[in-house]
Amino acid sequence: MKQLSTLLVAIVVLLASGCEQKSNEYNLVPYPQQLKAQQGSFTINESTIVSYQGSENSRFVAQAFADFIEPASGLQLQVEATEKGGLVKNTVCFIEDASLEGVEGSYQLVVTKDGILVKSNNPVGLFYGFQTIRQLMPAEVESKELVKNTDWTVPAVEITDAPNFSYRGLHLDVGRHFFPMDFIKKYIDLLALHKMNVFHWHLTEDQGWRLEIKKYPKLAEIAAFRDETLVGHLGVGERQYDGKRYGGYYTQEEAREIVQYAADRFITVIPEIELPGHAQAALAAYPELGCTGGPYEVANEWGVFKEVYCAGNEEVFTFLEDVLVEVMDIFPSKYIHIGGDECPKARWEECPKCKKRMQAEGCKDAHELQSYFIHRIEKFLNANGRDIIGWDEILEGGLAPNATVMSWRGIKGGEEAAKQGHNVIMTPNTHFYLDYYQNNPQKEPLAIGGYLTLSKVYSYNPMAGDLTAEEAKHIIGVQGNVWTEYMPESDYVEYMTYPRACAIAEVGWLDFSKRDYEAFARRLQIHFKRFDVMGVNYFDKVLMPSPSVDKVEFIDQAKLELFDNAIGAKLYYTSDGSIPTDKSTLYQSAITVKEECTIKAVAIDSRGRASDVLEVQAQKLSFIEGIAEPGENKGLACKLATGKFEKCSEVDEANGKRLVVTDVMIPSEAPHDNFGLSLEGVLSIEQDGLYQFALGSDDGSQLYLNDRLVIDNDGFHGMIYKKASLALKKGTYPVKVLFFEGGGGEGLRLEMMNVDGDKMQLSEYLSH
Ligand code: ACM
Ligand code: ZN
Repeated sequence: MKQLSTLLVAIVVLLASGCEQKSNEYNLVPYPQQLKAQQGSFTINESTIVSYQGSENSRFVAQAFADFIEPASGLQLQVEATEKGGLVKNTVCFIEDASLEGVEGSYQLVVTKDGILVKSNNPVGLFYGFQTIRQLMPAEVESKELVKNTDWTVPAVEITDAPNFSYRGLHLDVGRHFFPMDFIKKYIDLLALHKMNVFHWHLTEDQGWRLEIKKYPKLAEIAAFRDETLVGHLGVGERQYDGKRYGGYYTQEEAREIVQYAADRFITVIPEIELPGHAQAALAAYPELGCTGGPYEVANEWGVFKEVYCAGNEEVFTFLEDVLVEVMDIFPSKYIHIGGDECPKARWEECPKCKKRMQAEGCKDAHELQSYFIHRIEKFLNANGRDIIGWDEILEGGLAPNATVMSWRGIKGGEEAAKQGHNVIMTPNTHFYLDYYQNNPQKEPLAIGGYLTLSKVYSYNPMAGDLTAEEAKHIIGVQGNVWTEYMPESDYVEYMTYPRACAIAEVGWLDFSKRDYEAFARRLQIHFKRFDVMGVNYFDKVLMPSPSVDKVEFIDQAKLELFDNAIGAKLYYTSDGSIPTDKSTLYQSAITVKEECTIKAVAIDSRGRASDVLEVQAQKLSFIEGIAEPGENKGLACKLATGKFEKCSEVDEANGKRLVVTDVMIPSEAPHDNFGLSLEGVLSIEQDGLYQFALGSDDGSQLYLNDRLVIDNDGFHGMIYKKASLALKKGTYPVKVLFFEGGGGEGLRLEMMNVDGDKMQLSEYLSH
């Protein structure tokens, strides 16, 4: 009887432990296209064999896997060729099998308690299989030092995987700040971990030229160094400089080392040599290449500079071709990025050589001259078996025949290029500019501006635009951009890049229909343990909630909605000025505001961590009455003033040509750079109510109503919208918009919404 009871207990214990067996977790980033969870796991031990079959690359991947495991585990796994095509006991097998279906990077992975099998028709797929195994292993495997008392287990699973896009890139600007070789390698390691395959190396800028060119030694001696650097933000306060010489460059040998390091991780390095703009550093070294002949200085602050390569001087093309010959010799990539963005045309419009070139080439404006420049460089690179990538400005004046376009000013340029049958890489500043703030700008270290949360990055769908299926095929991929004006240290680059780059990796890899932000954010929390071991300085704060409006403005009452950016967090708020805690009101649905107050809200996550406090002012508006009479003519009277303006008030005072515009817009007569507009007339309001105005411009603008400044969007900047709500009585209001364009991108728009948030056709209400 005793024996029987012991047996029963044993059975019960066995059954119970069977039931309790922990389900496997698969915290993969990017997540695979198809994953079938399985029970149990495989443990790598000292007698595990790593085998391979296929090309030399399959041996390379098998060896890379064994080498990767060794430092943390201390295991020196034997690597050997195999004839067998299937799973072998206590073996990690990498099989390259040409008969399999699948795009480059696709692979199948099977893990059972007996062993691991990775199969692919290409070595890149084998490498990605390795990355998946890596991410399935305990985070400690990333350690460069021996880790004791850890089982090197891999959870059982069946995965069939393939990338959604063939181009999955991350960019790094080493011009504004220069980063050491070790950091560049770490940056590439992180790309490999996330199955990204392009490192876009932005090597030349106004503030520094970073690649040794043997034929032009002054690029390293002069163009690679600036005398000092702007302190603080360009747009805030008096400009101050640190007085410290700054710079550096990569030797050709170092650049080759990076190319090889990346190639070993199946990553292509695409170098960018900026032309015809962002070239001031090169001009400082070789002033004869500019329109005026200089002298020039390597720029010591940020922005867009008017000193660009002269498009009329043959020496410029000789120089650039010589540079590109050396660049092509270092970088085997099919693509060479030639920049093409933000090239002011002021110098060209005045330069006799450029004017002569325009005449000779039949260019009707400076944009066509830029197009001539890009076409000519493309022809040279094509003749050398390479293709160009350029920023979306290369569309202006006519796209070069074989160019691939990198769409950065939103997605418009990309869509236009795709419609013209050109390949496109989507890198819209609305979703993929990792220099933008990722949390409360008041609490974060200095950044360029903007606000781009992890969830917004993740939400991007490259195929969502206005393209036919055939046109959409030209979207070959996505890329995150890391501009470093405000990132002097590599740690800070990581802080800005991760985990947002994880979201970009998943956007590039996983089909949109399979993406799930909440699941992604949960996986990330585990992924961060890997980053901890790797020493990655990622951003991991509980994100503030986002408000539905930046400011609540109301006549009787209004609603404020809060959106949760932090997964699994709860939102709490107060309206009495106190700091919200988990004892404050729990946010459940839109808050109704009837009195002036400040709503303060926080997100508190499941670990009790609180976000920064979001503050939203609620302001009661009084009605304004119109003080004008309706005009006799539709549209607005427009004054177009040419010249270099730095603020709107200067435009107001300047003389200019008189025109009429139908809407708040830039008239077609305007030049591309250096002009100002004053648009005047009246706005007729047909119904008492609350109206919202959004004034967007690149560069500065201001909106006056009833002779009062109601939106101030002044200063040099890219396309930024500023909003104001106004309670307007039925009537007619004097309206004035001031605007100036000081180089680079341009744009002006005024939108008007009624109380329900419906857009109104502004032009119908304007007269003068
Ligand atoms: C860019 O951000 N100027 C491409
Ligand atoms: Zn010129």
